[in-house]
Amino acid sequence: MLTCSCGAVAPGDAWACTQRGRDGQDHVLRLPRPEWSVDDSSRQPFVRYRRMLRSWAEADDDEWFVDRVGQLDEAVAGVEGHGFEVTPCAGALVSDRSVTIKDETGNVSGSHKARHTFGLMLHLLVRERRATAGSDRPRLAIASCGNAAVAAAVVAAAEQWPITVYVPEDAEPAAVARLRELAATVELCPRIEGEPGDPSYRRFREAVGAGAVPFGCQGPDNGYTIDGGRTLGYELAEQAPGIDRVYVQVGGGALAASVAQGLAIGGSSAALMAVQAEGCAPLARAWERTAALGGLHEARRQRSAVMWPWTPTPFSAATGILDDETYDWAAVTEAMLATDGRPVVVPEPMVTEACEAGRSATGINVSPTGSAGLAGLLCDDAPTGANAAVLFTGAQR
Ligand SMILES: Cc1ncc(COP(=O)(O)O)c(C=O)c1O
Repeated sequence: MLTCSCGAVAPGDAWACTQRGRDGQDHVLRLPRPEWSVDDSSRQPFVRYRRMLRSWAEADDDEWFVDRVGQLDEAVAGVEGHGFEVTPCAGALVSDRSVTIKDETGNVSGSHKARHTFGLMLHLLVRERRATAGSDRPRLAIASCGNAAVAAAVVAAAEQWPITVYVPEDAEPAAVARLRELAATVELCPRIEGEPGDPSYRRFREAVGAGAVPFGCQGPDNGYTIDGGRTLGYELAEQAPGIDRVYVQVGGGALAASVAQGLAIGGSSAALMAVQAEGCAPLARAWERTAALGGLHEARRQRSAVMWPWTPTPFSAATGILDDETYDWAAVTEAMLATDGRPVVVPEPMVTEACEAGRSATGINVSPTGSAGLAGLLCDDAPTGANAAVLFTGAQR
């Protein structure tokens, strides 16, 4: 049972606040802050940091939990060729700037996103164990055609759990083919004349309303998605305890929210620098609106005065961060305020320049989305001697 940022206690096993969409406020269920606790004997993040996972606390059976993580990880390896392991983190010199780079490109499904979906699957397995024997597995649902959809489909395939992926009609055929290969049901969602907003997200919300499990990477739809995402922050806190700032690319915002929370739990006070491209920067706009409204408390109460879809149509080579709303804007803003961080808006040419510079300095096959945090660092005037980290979150396919 979690409490929403609006103060309401969510009933039973709810994934999201029941007040969402009813009163104009922002609603995201919040995970409690655990004590820092690491099992040094394991390099599997969901075993190593399990005592900080909400799913572990809810399972209330350490032996069962470790065993079940192992089974699921093996099944993921059966689908993907490998399971989860603490990802590499090393220093590099990029365009004369020294920087710590955490590399997620070799993670399950080629990005950090599977951390969110593996974490959600653990919650489902814990709940299934508690449920009456023989009850049906509810269908999973996600709206995406990028890294999040593939990460969701890989984890669902590992457990042979039925999943529907809602994708726009113009989704890349290669991505759709991969989703079908993973046995996901793919629903193409055409735009409907007169219907506002993203049609795939609308169809997804209808499916969730009809009983599907929101199996995505956005806090307002499923607050528990932050649970697995935090493992990235836990790793960084252990691997780079001396960093004083971290540049994190922001699309929907769950990545930055998770990393900031994981770092804080791990005792780091690194400033969160939230990076967006100039062609889609609703978080930077929300940051200014929040200040104008007198602070985050009031901004949360008046969501539509702070966050609304970006216009004109978002554009950047970093296609993975083109969410027209930063769904987790409040958690990211809270983390920036707590760490003396701020948003950084990157001029578009820097997005590709940083990607090329990052690739040639490290040999990592990172995508422009994956290196967008680096673009933030390279165009920011951080003081000399600053000890910065970035996350290479996704591989170029
Ligand atoms: C590789 C990669 N990095 C970063 C992000 C941004 O994550 P979030 O949407 O949680 O802000 C995405 C989102 O699609 C992504 O695919």
